[in-house]
Amino acid sequence: MDYLQIIGGSKLKGAITISGAKNSALPVIASTILSDKPVKLTNLPNVVDIRTLLKLLTMLGGEVKHNKTEAIIDNKNMNSTKAVYEIVSQMRASILVLGPLLARFGECEVSLPGGCAIGQRPIDLHLKALEAMGAKIEIKGGYVRAEAPNGLKGAKIVFDKITVGGTENIIMAGALAHGVTTIINSAKEPEVVQLCEIIRDAGVEISGIGTSTITIKGTSQKPLEFKDIEIIPDRIEAGTYLCAGAITNSSITLKKANATHIQSSIDKLDAMGCNFDIKDNEITIYPTDRLRPINITTTEYPGFPTDMQAQFMAVATMAIGDSLIEERLFENRFMHVSELNRLGADIWLKGSIASVKPVAKLYGANVMATDLRASSALVLAGLVAEGVTNVRRIYHLDRGYDNLEGKLLALGANIKRLSE
Ligand code: UD1
Repeated sequence: MDYLQIIGGSKLKGAITISGAKNSALPVIASTILSDKPVKLTNLPNVVDIRTLLKLLTMLGGEVKHNKTEAIIDNKNMNSTKAVYEIVSQMRASILVLGPLLARFGECEVSLPGGCAIGQRPIDLHLKALEAMGAKIEIKGGYVRAEAPNGLKGAKIVFDKITVGGTENIIMAGALAHGVTTIINSAKEPEVVQLCEIIRDAGVEISGIGTSTITIKGTSQKPLEFKDIEIIPDRIEAGTYLCAGAITNSSITLKKANATHIQSSIDKLDAMGCNFDIKDNEITIYPTDRLRPINITTTEYPGFPTDMQAQFMAVATMAIGDSLIEERLFENRFMHVSELNRLGADIWLKGSIASVKPVAKLYGANVMATDLRASSALVLAGLVAEGVTNVRRIYHLDRGYDNLEGKLLALGANIKRLSE
């Protein structure tokens, strides 16, 4: 199995290009099910999760030509509507095929994703909303079986909790439904916005894009004709590299990044004392001599993202005072705490709040990645830890970071991928 070996202490310098957003590419790929014509995608991140979802589409009968950052997907001959456990268990986001499969084919079977390292992650809100659109749903043998033989009906959906995946599933379902679907308390993430925009560009009337009320006028099961789609930049990848700049006290430039999408992270780093130069699609972070402590509460966009919580915790270990980090979205998203403490951090957990006390130094050790973003926090800590840090179980990282070690190497980090 591969692991990353990092020798801490190198200053970073230079520029890297941010890849396309995994969390945008996934719903966009799922949405191609709504079409029976070829769809061209560019700026895909070259990561395992994308390959997993493309594989699922081929298992459903779609034709996929994929070359690292580009794909042409043709779902004309899609002839299966069963998303099997073997794929869904590898990647929870496979649940995103539920809405489009049901909307286009009037039936589908999708394995229940189950929990994961960061929490229970139920899909009850997705199911309740599809039922409100007329679907008959039963859970049997670990699968969600959904039916709407005459198509889904537009409905007023009120999410009692903001859910990114739930909003995306219902946008896709609503696009082919009969009548108008209104989603109240919808997610506003940039990835949700991109999904709405490509569906709008495919001729569907959608209003309220980027707000908490989205209205979609369905095509009554007429498949969509998508224009070519360029995936937006990955805001979490960008935020992670800004954290790399902050923790190593270095100057780094991110190209093809969208600063607006990571304003909350930039604001927090600014409060910690980092300086920025932001122009067009480029963000440069400049070092500070004294990293100030920070208070963070994770919340929905445009608030501080849960997907940046672990990375900021790594940075906070190097601040000059006590930081507080509260996780509000996922009940178990603190698995990186004990691993960071193995590197010499001084972090205490009480319920959903982590108190991060400053330490003079981190020291290299063997650590284990527990989920995607936790893994990148360990890499960030390794960049400043004295000596050698080995980060194991990096298959988590490979799911979502495009060439992490290559990009860090280009910035001057002492990092290599090894096999054991
Ligand atoms: C997406 C992102 C993930 C990010 C998360 C929150 C993708 C592929 N993944 O995950 O990286 O961390 O948003 O920004 O885009 N919930 C329910 N019932 C449901 C659905 C969700 O209770 O039916 C709860 C979840 O357990 C969680 C909260 O709602 O506590 C938000 O989850 P949600 O926004 O749905 O996350 P995902 O779409 O799974």
